[in-house]
Amino acid sequence: MNESVKIEHLKLVRLLQLAYSAEKAAAFAYIGHAGSVKNPDEKVAIKQIEMDEWQHRETVLSIMKQHAITPSRYYEIKYHIIGRVISCSCYVIGWFMPYYFAGRLESGNVCEYFIMMRYFNEIGITAHDELLYEMGMKEKEHEVYFQKGLQNNRLLPLFERIFGWGNKSSFNDVDLATKSPVEESKGYCNHRK
Ligand SMILES: [Fe+2]
Ligand SMILES: [Fe+2]
Repeated sequence: MNESVKIEHLKLVRLLQLAYSAEKAAAFAYIGHAGSVKNPDEKVAIKQIEMDEWQHRETVLSIMKQHAITPSRYYEIKYHIIGRVISCSCYVIGWFMPYYFAGRLESGNVCEYFIMMRYFNEIGITAHDELLYEMGMKEKEHEVYFQKGLQNNRLLPLFERIFGWGNKSSFNDVDLATKSPVEESKGYCNHRK
């Protein structure tokens, strides 16, 4: 196996380190989010999303370890703070905004994993394709969860116009109803480098 070999792809190394730390920020944020919503079904759903993010962090770390990549201290501190701040803010900014910005963030995260897959493939490594695909698709499920929760909200059209995400706009081209198989999923996110 050449998977333990150190990889020479700076953008990929940075992206892995970023994803590892950003998953922590997301998980922290969802702790506050789940704590702040009143509806018990929403609490359970958001708690599950939090668990998914911890799982992603584990998975990203396991991939990093295979290539002797260590977490970035800077990202770890930065995203720790960001996650905690968002977590607390959920208790004061009402129901809509945490739902909206979670969905918008998830929308952008989908492509991170497909781009990572492409970077690995560029240097001849396909061993992580399956895991990266699963994570990308999971982020899409998260996005759709928030999108569905918001779809009839009267604030959504305005936020969609301002922040570029909502019912009709997404930051990725993944459609859960017509998923590409792993081999073809490299075609996703070509609008992003
Ligand atoms: Fe995640
Ligand atoms: Fe997510």
